[in-house]
Amino acid sequence: MSSDRKHFRQRCTWPISVAAVTVVFFVLFYAYDNRPFSADSSVIASYSHVELSSSSESSESRLSDTQHLIPLLYKPFLHSVDAPRFVSDNGDTYELPENPPRFTQSLGKKILLLDVDTRPLDGEGGMLSESIQYETMTPHTAGMLNHYLYAMVHGYDYKFVRSPSYTDRHQTWVKVPMIREALKTYDYVVFVDADAVFPHTHLPLEWLFNYWNITEETLVAMALDPNADFNKDQRGNTNLNTGFIIAQASPRTTEMFNVWEDCVTDDKFDKCSKWRYEWSHEQAAFSNFMRYEYQRGSEVIELSCTEANGYPQKAAESGCHGEFVRHFWLGKEFAVDALRDTVSRYMALRLHDTFHENINVAMVNATNTTLPLKAGEEVVI
Ligand SMILES: *[C@@H]1O[C@H](CO)[C@@H](O)[C@H](O)[C@H]1NC(C)=O
Ligand SMILES: *[C@@H]1O[C@H](CO)[C@@H](O)[C@H](O)[C@H]1NC(C)=O
Ligand SMILES: *[C@@H]1O[C@H](CO)[C@@H](O)[C@H](O)[C@H]1NC(C)=O
Repeated sequence: MSSDRKHFRQRCTWPISVAAVTVVFFVLFYAYDNRPFSADSSVIASYSHVELSSSSESSESRLSDTQHLIPLLYKPFLHSVDAPRFVSDNGDTYELPENPPRFTQSLGKKILLLDVDTRPLDGEGGMLSESIQYETMTPHTAGMLNHYLYAMVHGYDYKFVRSPSYTDRHQTWVKVPMIREALKTYDYVVFVDADAVFPHTHLPLEWLFNYWNITEETLVAMALDPNADFNKDQRGNTNLNTGFIIAQASPRTTEMFNVWEDCVTDDKFDKCSKWRYEWSHEQAAFSNFMRYEYQRGSEVIELSCTEANGYPQKAAESGCHGEFVRHFWLGKEFAVDALRDTVSRYMALRLHDTFHENINVAMVNATNTTLPLKAGEEVVI
């Protein structure tokens, strides 16, 4: 009974919040439309005041509104794919290598941003729960929404694959066959664990591909784990972390994923079966065996831990700040703040911008008067 009531309440409030969000977007973009540099005025102009009251719209058209409006919201901030440098919010500067960058244009839908999970995720605050409350959104949902947002801003495809489960190994292994399958349709698959986020929403993956030297030979790129004894492979090298994987489609990449999945059979490698259930599962299999089968540095690129792993709250301890990809291994709750930040940071600046575009209407400068006002003096508001 109580769950029925809750469901009913949610059903009632949902269209109101959708309408509120639509109003906010509309106000922002109506102002944006007047900008001389806007290339999207035709898109914006097609929105009319009438649409604000059209709560009877189908959910399909509401979705396509959001898919138009989100890229427009972030458009003024977009970092170019081949800009020579990127300056982070804390002032750190990252430069592209001297040679001309490989990527000079957006790859758009050639890139898939991929989430994979075997769990139902339909509980309170879960990604597959039909409606959620903001307050009880799980960190897992926040992470996935960050990926979805990031893909929408840059025009990449995004997919969440609810994977079948393995019966012969730990479920973290499922990312291996699912990335392999996705590479049949996409040129680049960027897999991210749900506890990892992209903190710089305006910085495109293509810029990072340039920065990280993703060349035609590259099969995969992954970040190193923190430099600690428990993160070493049999040869004493620091393990790679599979929380963030860039995979580039090629027959050799497919072969690599097949060999990786089959690693635990011990046909090719001695004692890889140990990593069926023992932590760190597919990461250990890759670190101990797979990476030595390929050219390290060109085919398998090892990204630095501080650039693509870890998070600022643990950086002093781990040495990994997570500059471009933030991975909240032990502080999953931070994912919710990270999502908040990747929305409100840009939204706040757009609001401030909009205020200034409308300053003649939104501000009354009464500083040429003195208080108390003299007889006959007035402030017209
Ligand atoms: C990329 O390759 C260039 C040489 O081509 C090298 O100087 C640079 O350090 C590399 N960058 C990274 C981030 O590995
Ligand atoms: C407000 O008006 C005063 C006096 O007229 C002027 O000096 C000041 O620059 C104005 N401030 C703004 C923000 O327009
Ligand atoms: C102050 O400025 C406003 C607008 O610029 C003007 O209308 C008003 O007459 C001014 N008041 C005085 C006391 O100068």
